[in-house]
Amino acid sequence: MRKKITIPDILKMKQAGKRITVLTAYDFPFARLVDGGGVDIILVGDSAGVVIAGHDTTLPVTMDEMLFHTKAVRRADPKALVVADMPFMSYQTGIEDACRNSGRMIKEGGAEAVKVEGGSNMAHVIGAISSIDIPVMAHIGLTPQSVHRMGGYKVQGRNDQAERIMDDALAVQKAGAFAVVLEGIPAKLAADISAELAIPTIGIGAGPACDGQVLVIHDILGLCEKYSPKFVKRYVDLAPLISGAVKQYVDEVRAGEFPTEEHSFS
Ligand code: KIV
Repeated sequence: MRKKITIPDILKMKQAGKRITVLTAYDFPFARLVDGGGVDIILVGDSAGVVIAGHDTTLPVTMDEMLFHTKAVRRADPKALVVADMPFMSYQTGIEDACRNSGRMIKEGGAEAVKVEGGSNMAHVIGAISSIDIPVMAHIGLTPQSVHRMGGYKVQGRNDQAERIMDDALAVQKAGAFAVVLEGIPAKLAADISAELAIPTIGIGAGPACDGQVLVIHDILGLCEKYSPKFVKRYVDLAPLISGAVKQYVDEVRAGEFPTEEHSFS
């Protein structure tokens, strides 16, 4: 049986040159499946707002919704480290809110770490949460909660912006983050940041040189038909399989072919 993965284990993986695998999950059955597949970290992402709740952005996601998803994942008792995303406006308003809301993710949700978006501008928040012994995964580059500032989901850190992203990476490390997600930045910049930092980098749309990779589970399973970014690899196309099963059920019930004696009580 594999052993429970902890923050020190994740740090050791970078030192040992072992790549860190991360996938999202938002509920009990998917947490069991993702953990059974052997990932190192389950991220209860605020992408739940898009792939589960059907919003166009992650901005409407609330603390109560993230707690609901985190508790459901926790009930699967995963060996993977459970990291809960802090939703928009749960930490940007100041260090008191940030600490109180991060504490709720640990105390009520059962998460083992939290993730916050932002670089140098959020270093004070990362520092405050880390100082109360709540491990923080930072998230820089294309930060979906900054969609309006960025004018859409656009690659960040090209050309003269690269130095700013490198500064963000150094600032979150200095503030105490145990790892940093690099999203939507050029592969060369991600490689430079990964070489520069002592903490692990977890890439999404950031090329192959990061210390680990994260993707949204619905994207790799082909359950998100609306939108499929270039950096996603679809490992299976479940949507037509599910639609086919539902259609077969509907046809069989309508035709009186289900249920039969086999599915009935005497
Ligand atoms: O919300 C999320 O799922 C994320 C990852 C895609 C990094 O932030």
